[in-house]
This record gives sequence, C-alpha cells and structure tokens, in this order.
Amino acid sequence: MDTDRLLRELTDFLRIPSVSTNASHNADCRAAAEWVAGELRRLGCREVQFLASDTHPVVWGVGPEVPGAPTLLIYGHYDVQPPDPLDEWTTPPFEPTVRDGKLFARGAADDKGQVFCLLKAIVERGGRPPVNFRFLIEGEEEYGSRVLFELLRREPERTRADAVLIADMAYVAPRWPAVYTTLRGLCYAEITVRTAKSDLHSGEFGGAAPNAHEELARLLGRLKTPDGKVHVPGLYASVKRPSKAELATWKRLPFREAEFLKHRVQAKALTGLKSYSVLERLWALPTFEIHGITGGFTGEGAKTVIPAEATAKVSLRLVPDQKLKAVERQLVAAVRRLAPKHVQASVKFLHGADPATVKVTHPAFKLLDQAFREVVGRGTVPARAGGSIPVVPALGKGGAPVILTGIGLPDDRLHAPNEKLDLKQLWDGIRVFGRFYELLGTGGIEGRR
Ligand code: BES
Ligand code: MN
Ligand code: MN
Repeated sequence: MDTDRLLRELTDFLRIPSVSTNASHNADCRAAAEWVAGELRRLGCREVQFLASDTHPVVWGVGPEVPGAPTLLIYGHYDVQPPDPLDEWTTPPFEPTVRDGKLFARGAADDKGQVFCLLKAIVERGGRPPVNFRFLIEGEEEYGSRVLFELLRREPERTRADAVLIADMAYVAPRWPAVYTTLRGLCYAEITVRTAKSDLHSGEFGGAAPNAHEELARLLGRLKTPDGKVHVPGLYASVKRPSKAELATWKRLPFREAEFLKHRVQAKALTGLKSYSVLERLWALPTFEIHGITGGFTGEGAKTVIPAEATAKVSLRLVPDQKLKAVERQLVAAVRRLAPKHVQASVKFLHGADPATVKVTHPAFKLLDQAFREVVGRGTVPARAGGSIPVVPALGKGGAPVILTGIGLPDDRLHAPNEKLDLKQLWDGIRVFGRFYELLGTGGIEGRR
C-alpha cells in the first residue's frame, strides 16, 4: 500500500470545505461531489451520476458487473459540519496536517476519511473483490439528508442490495471495533419567544416590561430540569429499557465513567439522569440540548436594551420506538404549555430523523467480524450509538442488512475543533474492508440478484 500517495489523495479531499449547512459553501459541496465522482470513475464504475440536487448532489455509482456475485451498497457523506470556533484549531480545519500519526482536519473522521477508506479498500489490496458495488455518497447528511430522503422515496430500487455498508462511526475503544445496533433519531428546532412589538430602553421600561431573553431562559429551564429530566409530556412513554442481557453486555465493554469524564468530556462532572448508567443515558434515552441562543444585544461594547425577541436552536435525540412526528407534536405542546400567556412562543422545525434499529444476525456481520479479527486481532462488539444518520431506516427498508461500523476512535472530536483520524486506523481499515469484500464475494453470502 502506497501510504504516501493515499495520504496525498485524502488530503486533497479534506481540503475542500464542503460545509452543507451553509449556503456560501455550495460550490465547495459541489467540488467535493466531483472529487467523489472522479474517484468512482477511477474505480471502474460504469455509471456515475449526480442525483437530485445541483448544489449538494447525491453521488450514485455502479461498479463493474460481476455476474452472480452479491451486491454491496456503500453509503457515506462528503459534507462536513462547520469548523468554528476557528481559533481553537491548532492548524486550520481545511489544511490537513499530520501530527503524531494523526491527520487533523474537518471531515477527517466524519465522514470523508471513512468514505475514502471504503473506496480505497476495493483496490488497494491488489486484485478486485468479486462484488457488485453500488455507491450512494451524499452531501447533506449533516443537514438532515432531505434530498436523499426524497430520492429514496421516489426510487427505492436504489437500495436494492444484499447488504448495505456504512463506515461513519468509531471503535468503542482503541483496539475494539464495533457494529452498531441502534442509532438515535433527532428532532432539530428553533424556539422563538416574542414579548413586545420592538426592543425597549432598559432604563425607561426595565422593571415593568417583559424581556424575551429572560422568558426564553425560563422556558428552556423548565423544558429540562437540573436532574436531567426532559419535561416534554409523553416523551418517555414509548422509550423501552434495554434488556437485562443487553445491559450486561455493556458492562463488559471497556468503558469507564471516570475515564470518560476525565479524558473525553473533560469537564468537572457528568450530568443527566443519575439513576441510569452513563451508557444508557448516551445510547438508550432521549435528550434535550440547547445549541445556541440569539437575539438582543451581543455585539461589542454595551447597549442597554430589553430584547423583544429571542431564539434558541435546540434538538432532542430520540431512541428506538420514539417517532419523530410524535415528538414534534409533543415539543410544540410543551412549549405552548410552558410559555406564560403574555409571551408569544413558536417552534420551527429545521430537520430531523427517526431512530434506527438494526439486527446484527445476518451472515454478513460474521464476515465483517472475521475481517476485523484477522486484521486487528479482535472481532466486532455490538454496541449502540448516540448519534444519528437520518437515511439509515430508509436504506434498510428493502430488507438488506445495514452494517453500521467505522474506523474512527472515540477521541476523534467529531463536529469539534481539532477533529482527527489516526492514520493507523485508516491503513488497518483499508485492509479490514478489503478483506471483508473478498469474504463477501467469495461465497460468504449468496448473490441474490
Ligand atoms: N457520523 C455522524 C453520526 C454519528 C456520530 C453516529 C457519532 C454515531 C456516533 C453523523 O455525521 C452526524 O453527525 N449526524 C448528525 C445528523 C444530523 C445533523 C441530522 C448528528 O448526529 O448530529
Ligand atoms: Mn457522519
Ligand atoms: Mn457528523
């Protein structure tokens, strides 16, 4: 494996600031899609298409036909999250830099580096695995995958495959590769409160006029109390506790709460519902988080004003058996109920995703387990994931097993400053997936198409 060349190629991909949530980067998203398309053509895809959007196209590819061989659909995303706060990056987010065997860049682990890994694994072991590859690499994952959702609703046959492979997650710990049995869903919203026609002088009116930020703060403070309970009526009704057996398997994972606090959260204390273990809070319970609050005066200097409007960007994570549509209704009802009469409160939904559950019993999971065992010396452990990938339920609709795995590590700092990918993980990953394709193609599972 020519790791110098591979590193140069990945660096080219990572240099493109394909931030999907920000329209000023539309051309960059398009450029990242072009990069993926070029790569698919180099892999010998006879068909490479841009689907459904000019600015954030879904890149569709059909690999060389291998009659009788199984079909594997590879899903991933070329878009990335915004890189801010910029001054907390040691080196700039779109100038990929290697330090101490780690490649630092926005998208290094989420998900460009991992897409790169799955693509390179097809050819870098030498020879070509007898697998019919299909590719769906989208550019809106970080913004709710609306375009791909619509596409798959119109053209569900795109997901017809013997298995779907997604590498967009991490090992549960160094040397502990994983497959994921659930993903949380997401309900992302803006809550806006309006308290007066316009802003008011805080000397003239302070003491007698309502303040939008104060009302918003109180509302948010009631939506989640310090004990970690989310006060959205009905929210917990469909939440099922993991079985005793599943909770017991989590106890055997190399996860220590104290270590998680000290090295990963790097805060003074953990928060949340204390009567549940940290893993249960991260993987099997809904959440409510505030992402940012705007309104009023936040500029330089001082301005004495009573703001008339304030907005909070918030999201809830959902767990299996919760439904996005139901949670949206519950959130609106909760906000209405908690806002005092003199406050006009509204909720606007930006995007969302249902939670996903996948069974890991299909023979393809055994093959991945074997590939990891051979290359890194340990097979995959089943775990759950706290994050979301909106289209996973849609990808599984045709009945193919959706293999959720990845080559990241828990300390990759996804969505945060100094995101990185350990190069050893990447080189191992290329060998693991190359071996997996080979096992899959040489009779591991039947080609059914
Ligand atoms: N790769 C992540 C999802 C993920 C992260 C799964 C960590 C498991 C562990 C994905 O790119 C992501 O960040 N998804 C967003 C989706 C949202 C913006 C609709 C998320 O989870 O916030
Ligand atoms: Mn991702
Ligand atoms: Mn992400």
